[in-house]
Amino acid sequence: MSPVIHIDPARTISRVDPRIYSGFTEHMGRCIYGGIYEPNNPNSLSDPNTGFRKDVLDVLRELNVPIFRYPGGNFVSSYRWQDGIGPKNLRPRRPELAWLTEESNQFGTDEFMQFCKEMNAEPYICLNMGTGTLEDALAWLEYCNSSANTHYANLRRANGHPEPYNVKYWSLGNEVWGPWQVGQMESQDYAKKAFQWAKALKLLDPKIQLISCGETGYSDWDRVTLKKLVSLVDYHSIHIYTVSEGNHAVNVMGPAAAEKALDITKSLIDLAKIEAELDKQVTVCFDEWNVWDPVRAPGEAGAEEHYDLSDALAVASWLNVFVRKADIVKIACIAQSVNVISPIITSPKGLFRQTTFYPLKLFATLMHGISLDVHVASPLYDGKTVPDWIQKLETKTGGDHKLTKYIDVSATLSESGDEIRVVIVNKHATDAYVVPILFGPACKVVGETAKVYEVWSPDLKDRNGWDGERVQTVEKEVSWTGEYSVREHSFQLLVFKIAMQIY
Ligand code: AHR
Repeated sequence: MSPVIHIDPARTISRVDPRIYSGFTEHMGRCIYGGIYEPNNPNSLSDPNTGFRKDVLDVLRELNVPIFRYPGGNFVSSYRWQDGIGPKNLRPRRPELAWLTEESNQFGTDEFMQFCKEMNAEPYICLNMGTGTLEDALAWLEYCNSSANTHYANLRRANGHPEPYNVKYWSLGNEVWGPWQVGQMESQDYAKKAFQWAKALKLLDPKIQLISCGETGYSDWDRVTLKKLVSLVDYHSIHIYTVSEGNHAVNVMGPAAAEKALDITKSLIDLAKIEAELDKQVTVCFDEWNVWDPVRAPGEAGAEEHYDLSDALAVASWLNVFVRKADIVKIACIAQSVNVISPIITSPKGLFRQTTFYPLKLFATLMHGISLDVHVASPLYDGKTVPDWIQKLETKTGGDHKLTKYIDVSATLSESGDEIRVVIVNKHATDAYVVPILFGPACKVVGETAKVYEVWSPDLKDRNGWDGERVQTVEKEVSWTGEYSVREHSFQLLVFKIAMQIY
């Protein structure tokens, strides 16, 4: 089948929420220490007052990250937040049970808030539902958000922060279902406990938004927890990492699992709302996603993935999913933001942008506005997928092959209504295609050119590193003839100036 893309700006899905381009900073490996925070950097790369790496913050600013999630991840499930405030020389070192290291507590809540301020981003705190108590959680919320004359609000003031931070986003634990989690629970037990916590937290600060701890979105844990918590939470969190197993096709088809997960989670939210006779908005906070092979880059060793072009195409496919599912996914946090499975790698001497940085930056900069319901005819992939149910669904359920197209597309109508932006990922390792793009009858391309941002390199295994960045964005202006030639294994974002003829 030859590829064809149909785009009709009248066929809208929903506004793309800019918060889908959010980040995540965990006390894990070199994300915080040696990543965003490195006081006394030997090459004067850090701010002498805050200890933040100036070069890292500058590069993160290119990504316009709207929210940072903190402090974990698995780390949070044995974290004592009060160890990380007050004079640094009095902060205790503690054993750290998620990654089996030691935590110096030199970076804590106030440093994170300062980081968010400098990044012009909103903080998002994940609560410790492992070793932590509801009392600890309430104290943390009071410390961050209260303007009352009460103990923890006064402690914040005594630590030099007179104004409350007004942290809006709070999640009820991290991956509490996981066997690796300190304080792992059964779904019913978690749901009961989270229900109690949610009520108390909202009593202390009714303005906060709560996020329930889901699993993948397609598990019974999600069904059970949503049923109990839907009346109290604003978002349901899900996590998925895709893995290549050394196979490019597996790598780039993996995000199909997230697309299906979002369909299922949306239905589970609807079901929970129907059962509770509720009329309120609950959406998905996809607060950990990325390409990660924990065998290649184990968590205990800092999970420093060194991404290649294939991984960049997988990340672009992930982001296409979020744009296409703009109606249900309102927050998504790439895991993570620096060094740990990250688009940026640092050393005391500097940093480089990984291959995955480039599609992420293009999405975060340009893929805003209204998500469009694009129709794509495409050659189909018919091989192994991870998880294997992706391929089983494709072949055994009537086979409309929504999930395994080689030509993977998302499109937006810009906020100003005068541009259509189209991302095309050609996932095929060796085949290039000529792709006609047909616009709806009411929409006319203005001018004779289109702007193109391409991420491509001859070899799928090409990577960036200390010897240079082989994989980067190339910008070009092309004559628009109604079709576009996509190279094998390529990413392109096309920008068309348009005029609407009858609207
Ligand atoms: O992002 C790395 C880890 O992956 C997080 O700590 C955990 O939540 C997930 O399993």
